[in-house]
Amino acid sequence: MIAPSILSADFARLAEEAEAVRGADWLHVDVMDGHFVPNLTLGLPVVQALERATDIPLDCHLMIDDPDRWAPGYAEAGSANVTVHAEAAHDARRCARDIRAAGALAGLSVKPGTPLEDWIEVLRDFDTLLVMSVEPGFGGQAFMPQVLDKVRTARRLVDTGHLHVLLEIDGGISADTIEQAAEAGVDCFVAGSAVYGADDPGRAVEALREQAAH
Ligand code: DX5
Ligand code: ZN
Repeated sequence: MIAPSILSADFARLAEEAEAVRGADWLHVDVMDGHFVPNLTLGLPVVQALERATDIPLDCHLMIDDPDRWAPGYAEAGSANVTVHAEAAHDARRCARDIRAAGALAGLSVKPGTPLEDWIEVLRDFDTLLVMSVEPGFGGQAFMPQVLDKVRTARRLVDTGHLHVLLEIDGGISADTIEQAAEAGVDCFVAGSAVYGADDPGRAVEALREQAAH
């Protein structure tokens, strides 16, 4: 799966920017609050408007404090998947329950320095695991290859039947890095600058998809 990140799109033309990647599996929406990460992007009203404006399922990545309070609203807005950060959630399990009850898949994200080992039991209650391959906050950063070990561990857990989660990676995914991520076992690739920095974002999505399938 390929999930273009609208963080690298033109925020004044979000509906058109979504249309430009209409073949994508999910549209990744980075919600940042200026507290959990040192950047501020968009919130629920924009997600609600985007949900009305596109048929692509929304993948909301909440980089915010107290996601326990806010995550269900993003699910109620019609998102396909709502991801909270392990480092920010007060009660990750309850977040997952509330997100699912509101009709979306529930995702758990870990920053590059957060070990997976601490979250394996909790992950049983989630549908997706978003491994960050940059420090969250900004698009266009360099991929951190050291997180691939974490992806391999997660892949092993999933394949041996201990977890039922989709593995997603986010940060620095491009033509140069997507193959190593695919080899490590990623199912869903988020790409911001590699898609929206391209002359033809729709074509860039298809090129990444072909590369990941190799
Ligand atoms: C970063 C965001 C990413 C970002 C990725 O904190 O979570 O989704 O848009 O951008 P690229 O693909 O440019 O690294
Ligand atoms: Zn993201």
